[in-house]
Amino acid sequence: MAHVAIVTGGTRGIGRAVCESLRDDGFTVVASYAGNDEKARAFTDETGIPAYKFDVGDHEATLAACEKIAGDVGPLDVVVNNAGITRDGTLLRMSYEEWDDVMRTNLGGCFNMAKATFAGMKDRKWGRIINIGSINGQAGQYGQVNYAAAKSGIHGFTKALAQEGARYGITVNAIAPGYIDTDMVAAVPENVLEKIVAKIPVGRLGRASEIARGVSFLASEEGAFVTGSTLSINGGQHMY
Ligand code: CAA
Repeated sequence: MAHVAIVTGGTRGIGRAVCESLRDDGFTVVASYAGNDEKARAFTDETGIPAYKFDVGDHEATLAACEKIAGDVGPLDVVVNNAGITRDGTLLRMSYEEWDDVMRTNLGGCFNMAKATFAGMKDRKWGRIINIGSINGQAGQYGQVNYAAAKSGIHGFTKALAQEGARYGITVNAIAPGYIDTDMVAAVPENVLEKIVAKIPVGRLGRASEIARGVSFLASEEGAFVTGSTLSINGGQHMY
C-alpha cells in the first residue's frame, strides 16, 4: 500500500507544489490548511487531494486532527512541515504577538506534527519528516527576527530529531528555500524585493516546483541515507 504523506499548509504556494509532486511519486497525499477555505476548496477540486483545516500551532488540535486523518486515510508515514507565516517588521516595531504567532506556527507546528506522528513511524520502522526552513533562518534577514529565529530553530530541531529517528528508519531533513514565487514573497514591498532579487546569482525568484522536487527526493526510498541534512535551494543567494 502507498505511504500516506501529509503536507501542512498544503493548499497553496510551496505546499501545493509539494502535494502534487508527492502524489505524482505515488504517495497518498493529504494537505492541511489554517484559514483560507476558498483556496482550499479550489485546491481539492483541482487536485482531488483532501484538505483538513486545523492550526498546526495548536498542540491539542494538531494531535486530534492527525488522529482523525490517520483514521480516514491510514497511518501518516511522511510529514512535510511546510506551514509558515510572516509578521515582518523591525524589532522596535514588532509586538510580542507578532513574535509569538510566528514562533507558534512555524516552529511549534513542527513539534506538534512530530509529536502526533513520530511514535507511529517508530512502530512501523519507516518514516520521513521534511521541514521547510528558510534562507532567512540560515543568514538572517532585516525585519524578520521572529521568522529568522523560528526558521533557524527548525534547522536545529531537524538535526536533533534526526539523531533520535535514525535507529527506527525515520529520516528527518530540512529544505532551506530562498525567495520563491509565492503569495508570501509577493507580499514583500516591491522596492525591497527588487533589491533582494538583484542579489540572487540565478537572477530570478525560484519556482515552488523546484522546492517540491527536493522534498520528493528526501521522501523517496533512495533518500534513506540522507538524514539531519539541509538542502539549500536558493538560486545561489546564500552559499556556505
Ligand atoms: N539592511 C540595512 N538596512 C535596511 C535594510 C537592510 N537589509 N532594509 C531596510 N533598511 C533600512 C532602510 O534603508 C531604511 O533606512 P532609511 O530610513 O535610513 O533609508 C530603514 O531600514 C527602514 O526601511 P523600510 O522603509 O523598509 O522600513 P519599514 O519599517 O517600512 O519596513 C520591513 C521594514 C517591513 C522589514 C520591510 O523592509 C520589509 O518588508 N522587508 C522585507 C523583509 C523580507 O525579506 N521578508 C521576507 C518575506 S518572504 C519569506 O520570508 C520567505 C522566505 O523564507 C525567503
